Amino acid sequence: MTETAVETILQAEADEARWMLPVYAHTPVEPVSGEGAMLHTRDGRELIDFYGGHAVALLGYRHPRLVAALAGQAEELFFQSNSVPLAVRARAAERLVRFGPEGLTRAFLVNSGAEANENALRLAFRHTGRNRIVAVEGAFHGRTAGAAAITWGAWEKWYAFPQRPFHVTFVPRGDVEALAQALTPDVAALIAEPIQGQAGAYSLGADYLREARRLTREAGALLIFDEVQCGMGRTGHPFAAQAWGVTPDILTTAKGLAAGFPAGALLASDAVAQGLKTGDLGTTFGGGPLACALIETVIDIIESEGLMERVKTLEALIRETCQVGPVTSIQGEGFLLGLRTTRPAREVVNELLDHGIMTGTSGDPAIVRLLPPLVLEEAHVHTLAKALAELRP
Ligand SMILES: Cc1ncc(COP(=O)(O)O)c(C=O)c1O
Repeated sequence: MTETAVETILQAEADEARWMLPVYAHTPVEPVSGEGAMLHTRDGRELIDFYGGHAVALLGYRHPRLVAALAGQAEELFFQSNSVPLAVRARAAERLVRFGPEGLTRAFLVNSGAEANENALRLAFRHTGRNRIVAVEGAFHGRTAGAAAITWGAWEKWYAFPQRPFHVTFVPRGDVEALAQALTPDVAALIAEPIQGQAGAYSLGADYLREARRLTREAGALLIFDEVQCGMGRTGHPFAAQAWGVTPDILTTAKGLAAGFPAGALLASDAVAQGLKTGDLGTTFGGGPLACALIETVIDIIESEGLMERVKTLEALIRETCQVGPVTSIQGEGFLLGLRTTRPAREVVNELLDHGIMTGTSGDPAIVRLLPPLVLEEAHVHTLAKALAELRP
């Protein structure tokens, strides 16, 4: 890195620090453009992006069809709210429902993962008339009052609201017996990330989720899958729900949904949708035409470019070639993977950055998290494997 480049990055850092609340730690690179899975930085470096901005850059950078969809919609109609019907919104909703698990027949479009989860909880309370949510240890569901109340550790670390808005029981991961005990008659829903992202790509697995489906049904509670991070083709299937053949009552998604434009959604069964009336849920920006044009195009690209097949092939290659250097094992599914390291993950992430590879950390200090765009190429995996092999074990 040249001295001027370092100065430029430091300048951007200082400029942000001058005007922004000091709540983020920064990786010391300033991306200015990208192409496919590659990022170009201000100081002229090329990085392979194995992290996708926390799983959001689902189709990488500068995908021509995505750029055209956004530009085309911006030319046509930049915004109108949910107070008018829009053909592009109807198409996005239809596309998403058809992409989702069979049995989830209605969509509600919002702006973020937290907003999708808040509305999922609201639907569960309304539907059951109960006042408790069961969540799983290690879970991350967002930062708004309801979503944070079901996020593991939030209360102790950063919750900041004076009280939680409803009762919450956390259950240990994978413990079916504990789940059965927790599903008391006051429980409105169990919410779970099929593959926990922030926890370090920890897969709850098909068996546990099948049991969760059975037990929630018996207890008269809803099952909510938070697929904000693991959804949208990332497992090599549209959603983990389909990968494992377990259909929840509500499924939430966001992050890669519009591949970088703010968008979130929930999908709900007929039973959950029944009885809803005007005003029960709402949002200003959700379902706006720009997001909808992108949602429709993202799904089209995933399907028409065979990206879910690509995920499966390259996941296998990562498992085969990347257990080298400091990596002792690989967990997770598809393109939501955790590399368990002998040394602090932060060290490995920094060293990979020196090799031109961007990865991420997680809540587990010994996990390097991979969330690459679905357009990742075989050559990128070989570069990662080679870089890992060169690192101190
Ligand atoms: C599984 C999961 N749910 C919810 C959220 C919250 O999404 P957002 O930041 O869009 O509100 C996240 C964000 O990291 C997430 O990983």
